[in-house]
Amino acid sequence: MKEEISILSPYLHLFNDASGVAHEAARRILTAADRAITAKGSFSIVLAGGSTPESTYRLLVDADTDWAKWRIYFGDERCLPVEDAERNSVMAASAWLDHVMIPDENIHPIPAEQGAAAGASAYSLLVADAVPFDMVLLGMGEDGHTASLFPGQIHSESELVHAVHDAPKPPPDRVSLSRTALSDCSELLILVTGAGKKEAVIRWKQGEDLPIANIGAHDTVDILLDKDAAGA
Ligand code: 6PG
Repeated sequence: MKEEISILSPYLHLFNDASGVAHEAARRILTAADRAITAKGSFSIVLAGGSTPESTYRLLVDADTDWAKWRIYFGDERCLPVEDAERNSVMAASAWLDHVMIPDENIHPIPAEQGAAAGASAYSLLVADAVPFDMVLLGMGEDGHTASLFPGQIHSESELVHAVHDAPKPPPDRVSLSRTALSDCSELLILVTGAGKKEAVIRWKQGEDLPIANIGAHDTVDILLDKDAAGA
């Protein structure tokens, strides 16, 4: 059931609440997976971290799909021990990946426990072989950051994966795919919910040079917003 109440622009989609965003995101992910698996026998997706995508991940658990054909990557990771509850990989595993039959060798967590520099270096080799991704999933912070690309932080444009230090959102050390790597995808799907994001959405619409505004895709960019985030 599509709960979308209006298409605000070619790529902005408005929903009544976070649940509507989550259901639409799950639908779009599964549609993209079906298309990619039919076309080329596999589906690669870069997962978003933070809390917003968790309800989408939970909805995917009961999906009817060929999980053996899925390839899972992460957009960023916090430099914490492998089992730390604050890790994006642990959230995705707990909500979804531990409950479906994706082969372990097809799930590629970022080795951020090695530290930002070592983790970024190791993961860049993997990303170089993985791009272009079929789909990238992103959230957005209240300051317009996405993944671990934060306003005011400069990174080398030649890198596929960055070592991040002094992140304003704890923990300070992180590993993040670069703007280039995150944009090297067929479909980009951005999930933004909650009144806390309203100001950043306004700044984004006004054309401010926010990290989220600099991520693109080869084919489609779709932003799923709830009314609280859209200030509607
Ligand atoms: C992280 C995420 C980060 C997140 C945004 C939104 O490691 O925190 O990668 O980019 O997507 O901060 O977070 P929420 O979804 O929790 O609002």
